Amino acid sequence: MAKELYNLGEMPSLGEIPEKMNAWLIRPERFGTPMEAFQKEVVNVPPIAADEVLVYVMAAGINYNNVWAGLGIPVNVIAARNKAGEPEEFHIGGSDASGIVHQVGKDVTNVKVGDEVVIHCGRWDRDCPGVKSGGDPMYSPTYRIWGYETNWGSFAQFANVQGQQCMPKPKHMTWEGAAAYTLVAATAWRMLHGWGVNSVKAGDVVLIWGGAGGLGSMAIQIAKAAGATPIAIVSGEDKFDYCVKLGAKGCINRNDFDHWGMLPHWKDSAGYTKWLKGVRAFGSAIWDVLGEKRAPNIVFEHPGETTIPTSIFVCDTGGMVAVCAGTTGYNATVDLRYLWMRQKRLQGSHFANGVQSNQMNELALRGLLDPCMSRAFTYDEIPVAHQLMYENKHPHGNMSVLVGATEFGLGVSGEPPVVLPHTTLPKGDVHTTPHPYPMSEPLPGIAEPEAITIVDDGAKVKDLMHRGVIGCAPGDTVAQVARIMIDKDIHAVVVMDGGQAVGVVSQTDMVLARQGRTPDEARAMPVRDIMTPGCVTCDAGLLLSEAVSLMTGRRMHRLVVTENGQLAGVISMTDVVRKRIPARHLALWLARPILAPAGIPVSGTGPSATRSPAPGMTPSGGLQVGRN
Ligand SMILES: NC(=O)c1ccc[n+]([C@@H]2O[C@H](COP(=O)([O-])OP(=O)(O)OC[C@H]3O[C@@H](n4cnc5c(N)ncnc54)[C@H](OP(=O)(O)O)[C@@H]3O)[C@@H](O)[C@H]2O)c1
Repeated sequence: MAKELYNLGEMPSLGEIPEKMNAWLIRPERFGTPMEAFQKEVVNVPPIAADEVLVYVMAAGINYNNVWAGLGIPVNVIAARNKAGEPEEFHIGGSDASGIVHQVGKDVTNVKVGDEVVIHCGRWDRDCPGVKSGGDPMYSPTYRIWGYETNWGSFAQFANVQGQQCMPKPKHMTWEGAAAYTLVAATAWRMLHGWGVNSVKAGDVVLIWGGAGGLGSMAIQIAKAAGATPIAIVSGEDKFDYCVKLGAKGCINRNDFDHWGMLPHWKDSAGYTKWLKGVRAFGSAIWDVLGEKRAPNIVFEHPGETTIPTSIFVCDTGGMVAVCAGTTGYNATVDLRYLWMRQKRLQGSHFANGVQSNQMNELALRGLLDPCMSRAFTYDEIPVAHQLMYENKHPHGNMSVLVGATEFGLGVSGEPPVVLPHTTLPKGDVHTTPHPYPMSEPLPGIAEPEAITIVDDGAKVKDLMHRGVIGCAPGDTVAQVARIMIDKDIHAVVVMDGGQAVGVVSQTDMVLARQGRTPDEARAMPVRDIMTPGCVTCDAGLLLSEAVSLMTGRRMHRLVVTENGQLAGVISMTDVVRKRIPARHLALWLARPILAPAGIPVSGTGPSATRSPAPGMTPSGGLQVGRN
């Protein structure tokens, strides 16, 4: 006779489904840090559909996703599901699992009750036309990460998964080991094997960021198994041995270099040259590891903003940088010359489809993929494990928790086909870069059902702009324009040609003109050679917030303002800051007195031209083009 609820660790007989189960739940009313958000509750065991399976969970993997689910940001996953028609006002997370099949839907053919399985976290609607026609389910709009974007994850006695998510559990692994690798390993598999001509092959060199991390440790093993030569990048020599034992030919300590971050501007010859020196030194460290002058065919990317410029530079001609995350930021800067001239590929990649997940799992079944489990926790410690992640105090590698398994070390029912060298992370290894966002994030699409609301106080450009324009001619020299800037105490001058604004010369342009030139050479240059061509203009009636977005989007500090089709003045970031931040704060900030607008509008061209008020403007209402 089936019990209504089984205690944790007390497994119902095979195929027996109790009405209720123990689970760790997140609810909206307690969104917050993991210690607040997760609570143990008893809920009904979920029913399954024809293509679904009910798995008795033995162990679950821990990922950062459920830290975000608990915080309720950047999305409230519960509200999102309620809106889509699911009634449950809670979330059961967990996107990795090992367990035993207890019930199968009528259409499930790949597993049967009693099978020991591991679960990959990709779910999709089998009736989606794209999927039905044989397309990659990863491109289906119905694609979801189980246990984050969907409910009924592995932090419960029973998990509801699609049949296609179930893969055979490697017999030589413990329950907790088997629960640790699928998400990261399948992601790494697609990154390395999923991209046609650029997929990894024997003889390739693969450069792997974060070699001792969750993804990196999997990538080393997958590349090695393909006959490629992995090189790992880590943040300390104490991790070299770990990566080499996993299969890396050698390692590079990223802390030996300091050229990280966004690319210097290509006009900044000194900055760019310094960057080039740094990235070349890094490239030669790759050659040192290889013992030959070869560039990586594949760069395995996830740090993002700080490393992408380097990844693209060092990648071989015709090679690929495959990226699945932007842990350090999303604004990747690329020197397009290297991308097009050397015909490299920057390829986005996200988790994996079912075929790829199973191909990856084949490697685990063959004993060629160590799960690299760095720490396992008990069921009661699920919030603690997430709290450690939230505080960035968790170990590198992959973590898991026991659910149905009563002790660590259970679940092994066979010998490993291959005995791998055992490798452990160095003691006291700590994270230095927090994860900015979950691996899966709903991005605004072209046709979003909801209107996007912009919060704005209604201020217009004309409320803050400086009226009048100080200009110069394209043939004026840098020295002449520098004199105008000094005399007028302004930071940019509009370049006028035939009554039209054709560009802007800013102090940044002047400084960049001096980079790599003698003072005399720089002074003699005509400003047309150093100006930022094409004047970005906005209308005086534009919302201030839109003008700010225009400036930040174009990486500029000012816009030329038109009114009734005529040049009318300039709005600069400084104008925005001055008017929006109280003067006493500004005085401290700028560390010098704030000057009143003092520019004079120009009617002629050239620095020596007579300046007179533009029509409709008074001399005192003249403009300075703004101070940065
Ligand atoms: N799209 C997907 O399907 C998918 C799937 C899984 C994970 N992800 C995302 O991928 C990222 C990595 O996941 P993970 O599980 O491998 O995380 P992890 O275990 O924390 O490893 C990340 C590694 O990145 C390295 N790193 C940190 N800061 C760095 C920097 N500034 N420059 C270079 N390397 C840096 C660290 O190694 P060192 O300090 O030793 O260099 C660390 O080991 C996360 O953002 C995660 O959300 C995406």
